[in-house]
Amino acid sequence: MTDLIREIQEEHRNLGPVLDLLEREVDAFEAGEPFDGELWDQILDYLRAFPAEVHHPKEDLIYRRLMARERAAAPALHDLEAEHVRLAATLGRLAELVEAVERDVELPRALLIGAARDFLAFQRGHMAREEEAFLPYAETHLGPDDWAALAGRAEGGPDPLAGGTAERRFAALREAILKAA
Ligand SMILES: [Fe+2]
Repeated sequence: MTDLIREIQEEHRNLGPVLDLLEREVDAFEAGEPFDGELWDQILDYLRAFPAEVHHPKEDLIYRRLMARERAAAPALHDLEAEHVRLAATLGRLAELVEAVERDVELPRALLIGAARDFLAFQRGHMAREEEAFLPYAETHLGPDDWAALAGRAEGGPDPLAGGTAERRFAALREAILKAA
């Protein structure tokens, strides 16, 4: 397996617990518990800072290279770039609602809960499609030259939640994930 695919799979494994934590917060909010704004903010900040800014662009690079060569594969790969655009929009919508709740704007709880559940379902489905279809397809259809070229172009630092490189600004999120595990 190539390093880039291994890296992407590792990032998926790290994202899982963040999504699980968001789901717990949604469940708690739905059950009538108070809104933990600080935690919601950290979760959304993280989702925008890493999966959206660093992780998806890496996958887009691989996808574009595959498409340049194997255009016929596009339907099987579920138009990955378009899914990334839709994910960013879903996340943006969720962030707007969270901000509104924090500004004490009167809005039905169900609106925020629905937006969060939409995001979770779409993000999880998207990740599963990448794991089941996109990554194995890329692995078989790209060669060593492709991977060497792609490795040099992938930008962005390490996952700010992961192990030794964890960033201080996400310390509370990391702690909440460890506590939930
Ligand atoms: Fe991904």
